[in-house]
Amino acid sequence: MTWNTWTNTQLEHVRADNRWREALAIDPSSIVSFASNDYLALSTHPKVCAAAIDAIQRFGAGATASRLVAGTRSIHDELELAIAVWQGTQRALAFSTGYQANLAAMTVFGASDVTIFSDELNHASIIDGCRLANARVVVYRHCDVEHLRSLMQAHDGRQLVVTDAVFSMDGDVAPLAALADLCTQRDALLVLDEAHAVMQLPTALPCETLRVGTLSKSLGAHGGWIAGSRAMIELLVNRARSFIFTTALAPADTAAALAALRIYTSEEGAALRAHLSALIDMLKPAHPSPIIPFVLGNEHAALAMAARLHEQGIHIPAIRPPSVPIGTSRLRIALSAQHSVPQVATLKRLLSSLSA
Ligand SMILES: Cc1ncc(COP(=O)(O)O)c(C=O)c1O
Repeated sequence: MTWNTWTNTQLEHVRADNRWREALAIDPSSIVSFASNDYLALSTHPKVCAAAIDAIQRFGAGATASRLVAGTRSIHDELELAIAVWQGTQRALAFSTGYQANLAAMTVFGASDVTIFSDELNHASIIDGCRLANARVVVYRHCDVEHLRSLMQAHDGRQLVVTDAVFSMDGDVAPLAALADLCTQRDALLVLDEAHAVMQLPTALPCETLRVGTLSKSLGAHGGWIAGSRAMIELLVNRARSFIFTTALAPADTAAALAALRIYTSEEGAALRAHLSALIDMLKPAHPSPIIPFVLGNEHAALAMAARLHEQGIHIPAIRPPSVPIGTSRLRIALSAQHSVPQVATLKRLLSSLSA
């Protein structure tokens, strides 16, 4: 069998499972999208775009090398300082993506004498980081602190707990206070992925904590970050292969993220979050995040519903395994501050009429 024949056989399996994926270009002028993670609409904010253009003019289009070789620019330092202040940590480190930040956190702190305890619904980048780490990995039931406690008691040695702060496919939040208490009792490091934590402002936790995030969602730019103690960041700089062996974050992305963070932490940012909060309450009262799942069950039902909404001028992606567990295929609705009250009202009406 040739490699191409083998590849075609694999593609047939993907189609037969109703899991075919294709990247389709979306024209925002002809469709209302509820798919983007640009929760505060900062990717198109004039100050964010102007900062990116200015950085290209000052520093060029690319960073030209990895950070440790010749890639560090003054805006990297400015961004890292701003992230550390925002997160209330001693230092922060920027990565080219949030995915790489999670790989770094898991591989550097998941040493061979460590057990990593990972929530079963953690993001794929955490799972891949666990796979690359030398640590033993134990998966605990979703947000189940008592299950986690019993698993931690059953294992010796140094321990690390890793969780999404807001889960990317369900939009629910981790039981942070209980997790932090447990980590304090067991001297465990808590690694918190704040990628989707747009409504939750960073709070101090009693345990040793490493915070991971992305610049590509609430901040509308591109890249990732880790914030923690000075020593932890220095170890990442010296050991994280996804930091050392890749070209530095591009100047435009760095400057855009810095401008977006300044807006995020200003009164304007608070107003954007207040509008987003009102939209969330319209669609699902008291839900803690702009990610609202509409679970349909099998792949076919999710794809059919997404197609019907598309005919009505609304784009919502159908999310299927392996992104979510089998039998929980869904529409993943992502609200953004750029949506209007009438747009969300239309979505609500269509969801109830099309699923009736
Ligand atoms: C929870 C979570 N962590 C990390 C990432 C990775 O971030 P990035 O898109 O910056 O690579 C994502 C993005 O999809 C995510 O949802």
